[in-house]
Amino acid sequence: MKPMLNVALPKGRLGERVYAMFEKAGFECPSIKETNRKLIFENEACGVRYFWVKPSDVAIYVARGAADIGVAGKDILLEYEPDVYELVDLHTGVCRMAVAAPKGFRYDPSRTLKVATKFSNIAKNYYASQGRDIDIIHLNGSIEIAPILGLSDVIVDIVETGITLKENDLEVIETVVPISARLIANKASFKFKNEQIEKIANSISMQVQAEANK
Ligand code: PRP
Repeated sequence: MKPMLNVALPKGRLGERVYAMFEKAGFECPSIKETNRKLIFENEACGVRYFWVKPSDVAIYVARGAADIGVAGKDILLEYEPDVYELVDLHTGVCRMAVAAPKGFRYDPSRTLKVATKFSNIAKNYYASQGRDIDIIHLNGSIEIAPILGLSDVIVDIVETGITLKENDLEVIETVVPISARLIANKASFKFKNEQIEKIANSISMQVQAEANK
C-alpha cells in the first residue's frame, strides 16, 4: 500500500476553494465537508489525509515534514523563507503587498522612514533593494492604525480590495510584490512520495490553466 499523503490546508474560504482542486485531482475526502470542528480528515482509499491549519502555519508543517504538501500564500513564503519547494501558483487568493500612507504623504529623504508592518522581512528586503534606510516597527495586526497615530510614516501590508485602506484614509503609494496562493512541498516528501505529489501538482496546474483560458 502507498503511504498516506499528508496535506496541510489553510483554514477558511481559501482552503475550501483549494480543497475543491485537490478533489478534482482525484484526492477526494468527503468527510471534510461535514460541518464540525474536527481538524483532521482522511480517506484511506485515496491515500490522503487533510488537516486544517492557520494559514500562516502551513509552511511550518510542510517545512518540518508534518505535512508533505500544503497551500501557503506567497506573502508567508517571502516573509519566513521556509525550506520547501514551491510547485504551482494557484492564481487564487490574489492580492498584493504594498506600501501605504496617509493621503497627501510626502517622503522626506532627510529622515529615516518609519515603517509599520507584520511583514518585517519583506519590508526590510524591499527597502534594502532600493538602498533606502528604514526603521521597522513590527506589529501583529491592525497595522493601518500606526500612521494615523504617528507610530509610523507608512505601512507595508496586504491589500486585496483596498477597502481597509480607504476606510482608514490611507492610500497605496508603492506596490512591493504581487501575492497569490502556492502549492508547496516538503523537500524529502517530494522525493519519496513523488508520484502522488506530481499527480496533484500536474492536475492542479492544468485546472489553473483551464480557469485562466475561460
Ligand atoms: C489583511 C491586511 C488588511 C486587509 C486588506 O488582513 O492586513 O488589513 O487584509 O484587505 P482589503 O484590501 O480587502 O481591505 P487579514 O484579514 O489578512 O488579516 P489580519 O487582520 O490578521 O491582518
